[in-house]
Amino acid sequence: MGLDVIRPFDLKHWDPKEAAEPTSPQELTLESGKVLFFPALPFELAPQETRFLSERWSNGKTKNISYRGDHAPLKGAQGTADDLLELHAMLARFSHQARQLVEGLFPAYQNVLKQGFTSFRPARVEGRRSSWRQDDTRLHVDSFPSNPTGGERLLRVFTNLNPAGRPRVWRIGEPFRPHAQRFFKAAEAPRPLKAWLMDTMGLTKSRRTDYDHYMGQLHDLGKKDLLYQETSPQERFEFPSGTTWVVFSDQVLHAVIGGQFMLEQTFKLPPAHLVNPAAGPLAILEEMAGRPLIP
Ligand code: SIN
Ligand code: FE
Repeated sequence: MGLDVIRPFDLKHWDPKEAAEPTSPQELTLESGKVLFFPALPFELAPQETRFLSERWSNGKTKNISYRGDHAPLKGAQGTADDLLELHAMLARFSHQARQLVEGLFPAYQNVLKQGFTSFRPARVEGRRSSWRQDDTRLHVDSFPSNPTGGERLLRVFTNLNPAGRPRVWRIGEPFRPHAQRFFKAAEAPRPLKAWLMDTMGLTKSRRTDYDHYMGQLHDLGKKDLLYQETSPQERFEFPSGTTWVVFSDQVLHAVIGGQFMLEQTFKLPPAHLVNPAAGPLAILEEMAGRPLIP
């Protein structure tokens, strides 16, 4: 394992404070680009919930089913009102447990983490077709064209709940700095007028900052470069069914190449609350640009 990105922890409880041996604070491990891996932390399903491990609950329009809070309906799901209520409750429970986990592991983020969406991914990764930009079998750091972060970090909790014991298979790439160094020079310059127009026309959820622009460029240039995809430093890792992992997905290069049935919870963290901001993508890109990239 040349890149040495996986950090295993023996935690067996979603609330680290309730664990027999509480895990010490891990902000710096996460911020240095490691994947915190919990091989003994499954998301437990009630017997009647195992029926949700099927593609039939997907409405076919989006690849994921998402939970967006107690008062919003699920997005991307289909089923009877009773089924959907139960699936909603299952995703809400995961969302809550994921919150307990990150608050316990990262006390410095406790009151400042914003709860993002929860996604259930029932589709098989193998054989899925998509455009190159949406192709997550290619190494990338997360950056979504219509969803600028303005510098907020993307912290994600993943759980593999494959009922047949199949792993979620990832490729994990080189650290963020060399990745950014490789593509920064080739990046187009930001176009403020375009960002303003896209925002005004409602094509983005907020105005794209220069940071969002550069993150999008790294995402696209990296995914388009097939030689980079094949030959850059990387390792394959299989997350077994019944395990959980936590990662800054806007920093750790990742690609998913196999598996089915996963839950994911996104959190957003304002960069001012990082313990070591210098290690994060905003500071690294600002250093390369030689100027601030967010207002
Ligand atoms: C991704 O975030 O790129 C995909 C991760 C996964 O579905 O395992
Ligand atoms: Fe991703």
